Amino acid sequence: MGTVNFSDVITFEGKVVVVTGISGGIGSVIGKVFEDYGAKVVGTGTRSKIGDSQVDYHVCDVTDHDACEKFCKSTIEKYGHIDVLVNCAGITRDALTKKMSEEQFDRVIDVNLKGVWNMTRVIGPHMQAQKGGSIINISSVVGVYGNIGQVNYAATKAGLIGMTKTWAKEFSYKHANVRVNAIAPGYTMTDMLNTVPKDLLEKFASQTMLGRIADPREVANVVLFLASDLSSYITGTTIHVDGGMRL
Ligand SMILES: NC(=O)c1ccc[n+]([C@@H]2O[C@H](COP(=O)([O-])OP(=O)(O)OC[C@H]3O[C@@H](n4cnc5c(N)ncnc54)[C@H](O)[C@@H]3O)[C@@H](O)[C@H]2O)c1
Repeated sequence: MGTVNFSDVITFEGKVVVVTGISGGIGSVIGKVFEDYGAKVVGTGTRSKIGDSQVDYHVCDVTDHDACEKFCKSTIEKYGHIDVLVNCAGITRDALTKKMSEEQFDRVIDVNLKGVWNMTRVIGPHMQAQKGGSIINISSVVGVYGNIGQVNYAATKAGLIGMTKTWAKEFSYKHANVRVNAIAPGYTMTDMLNTVPKDLLEKFASQTMLGRIADPREVANVVLFLASDLSSYITGTTIHVDGGMRL
């Protein structure tokens, strides 16, 4: 592609973008950014409804295999195509390994790992058949570096990086232009951090080169980049959005 004019390539007019976890702190901003760039945004979450927006919102628990299949197929039927999938739904159930219950372990695996598979197993092959699309999985720095009290969460977020590489290979078979990438955000100011003590948050902020926690928009901007043609030669990779946390 060589030199590009940004305003020409960052347009999602006519594109259908599916965002899971769109009621959340990061997902809602991702949905908004895509809307701003002209996309038809189809969002899922567990809440019964979301605030004012043009998002075509559906309650769909990502752990429900059949509901995900139904949602994906009906979205393809309704719009004729899905161009971007952002797997953003995710939860934490933190505890030290010796105190973690089986329920805590299984629940996080079900939502963060199997939930991503439930959606992508339908939308990935659809993109492959239409020979184009971009899938973005929201991983975490915890999946790369580990974190005390988050063995379940770390396993899922590391697992997403493996899934990302596998799907980058699978869905581009015979040179289908389907790109699959992951983002590993550092600590980002959303409800997910509500359970983290303030002094610990300050410590995390001070560990970054930029001295602060991320704003969700800073993650959404990279999602937009990975979904757009600006990243047309990037696939199978994980971009860290962590303020230089481990430099
Ligand atoms: N906030 C952070 O510091 C941070 C850092 C790194 C990665 N992440 C990741 O970013 C993503 C979004 O996190 P957030 O901070 O916006 O959290 P959030 O708690 O604000 O939002 C989570 C979203 O996931 C949805 N969700 C939860 N369980 C679900 C289920 N079973 N089925 C469908 N949807 C479900 C919720 O409805 C909500 O929309 C997550 O995958 C999280 O792991 C967050």
